[in-house]
Amino acid sequence: MNAEELVLVAYLVPVALFVIGLKRLSKVRTARRGNFMLAAGVMLAVVITLVEMGVVDYTWILVGLAVGATVGAVIVLWASATSMPQVVARFNGFGGAAAALIGMSLFWDAVVDRDAGTTPLAALGALESVALAVSVVIGAVTFSGSLLAEVKLWGRLSRLTRIPGRAPLLVASSVLTAAAAVAGLLLADVRWAALSMVGLLVFSLLAGFFAVAPVGGADMPVMISLLNSVSGIAVAASGFAIGNTMLIMGGIIVGAAGLMLTQIMCVAMNRTLLSVFAGGLGDGGSSDGGSDTYENVVSSDPEEAAMVLEVARSVVIVPGYGLAAARAQQAAADLAGVLAAQGVEVRFAIHPVAGRMPGHMNVVLAEADVPYDRLVEMDRINSDFPNVDVVIVVGANDVVNPAANEATGSPIAGMPILDVENARRVMVIKRSLSPGYAGIKNELFERDHCTMLFGDAKQVLDDLTRELKANVPV
Ligand code: TAP
Repeated sequence: MNAEELVLVAYLVPVALFVIGLKRLSKVRTARRGNFMLAAGVMLAVVITLVEMGVVDYTWILVGLAVGATVGAVIVLWASATSMPQVVARFNGFGGAAAALIGMSLFWDAVVDRDAGTTPLAALGALESVALAVSVVIGAVTFSGSLLAEVKLWGRLSRLTRIPGRAPLLVASSVLTAAAAVAGLLLADVRWAALSMVGLLVFSLLAGFFAVAPVGGADMPVMISLLNSVSGIAVAASGFAIGNTMLIMGGIIVGAAGLMLTQIMCVAMNRTLLSVFAGGLGDGGSSDGGSDTYENVVSSDPEEAAMVLEVARSVVIVPGYGLAAARAQQAAADLAGVLAAQGVEVRFAIHPVAGRMPGHMNVVLAEADVPYDRLVEMDRINSDFPNVDVVIVVGANDVVNPAANEATGSPIAGMPILDVENARRVMVIKRSLSPGYAGIKNELFERDHCTMLFGDAKQVLDDLTRELKANVPV
């Protein structure tokens, strides 16, 4: 086996780590180890690449590693569990920027090194030229799109959803992008070719901006997942451009995984990718889920609710966005602990799109050390709700809204939900009768066996736990 073949075989180790690590991310119990495997895979890939390239001076590489690791650590240490979608968007953007910079530097090398009168296309060859252009375009689109996605997730610039003439502007920037790519590769004059490449970068950034601008807040995690996939394609294109097998393999894995996640999220939110691009949901979009006035809503207080829980044998807690917003995960874990100590079977029902990002509820409950075996996915728990004595819905709304099963005109019609109304009793903890993200009425709150516990999720859960402890010492 020669050195080149040895490197190719060595690359299979990080690729295996990527595949196994990704697989492990799909289960709460194994996700932490999966994450370590992925990080180790990236580090190993970098080391093998450096060995392959025969780099002798590591000064700038070590400086780059130190700066990158510090910036990454600072970003993550400052991020709260609820701001994870924003962090993911930023990291996607960095991936895109790296791919675009690789493409631009390759172009610069080609322009500087070629013989006078030769076009960059002739100097690079057809395959490398196309890969270079794809790397710059997709990388820049991912960068501007991801940064805009992050800004919108922070709740800023939501008015951008309705930019007048957005569609023609997107078409114009896309056409100019294509024209600049062709000009940059075909012009023999150095200055014009370089100017076209700068144009390529600028028009691609604008195209990313106009593509993401109409996407509403609720759809943003789907868009981020798609941008993640696209950043993988940009990285794979960079790999083709510079002839690096690792970048090609890693990029394709990221691209495929991101695309699958996008599809899973679209199905769980009952959205098509086309409707995500068209925009609307989550920016105060209208509701056709029926009248927003409620009748026969029964409310109660923690003291009464605790008495109901005292005689329950089986309790399911349904966490939603409000639990994360109230930072009530520890309070929920404490309540579960007290109930379990009293011999009650306690489980947490996890809806795939509860909260605002994939795995949101898993992340916040893991923060409170809720045992993994207490978490049950929607598909497994739905058939068991008729056997459950009490369901406690904590800051969830859309994911338990029966309108998904009933009202055909509703924006969530057809979205799979947790069928909590089939349980014997339902208690809903939220501050008011305000709608959830989809902006529609929830008739669950009017059902005879449903009781509202109005208040901040953390406060109500703490009160419930205190009442239970007071009545039945544990
Ligand atoms: P939502 O339907 O958004 O409902 C959350 C509820 O929490 C609100 O009705 C709110 O009512 C309550 N709440 C807020 N702060 C609270 C607090 N401090 N204490 C108590 N309650 C509080 O949440 P969900 O049921 O988790 O559904 C998620 C929604 O987001 C779905 O429509 C989903 O499609 C969408 N979405 C999900 C994702 C992912 S990937 N997870 C991504 C984008 C969009 P009050 O104001 O009355 O308290």
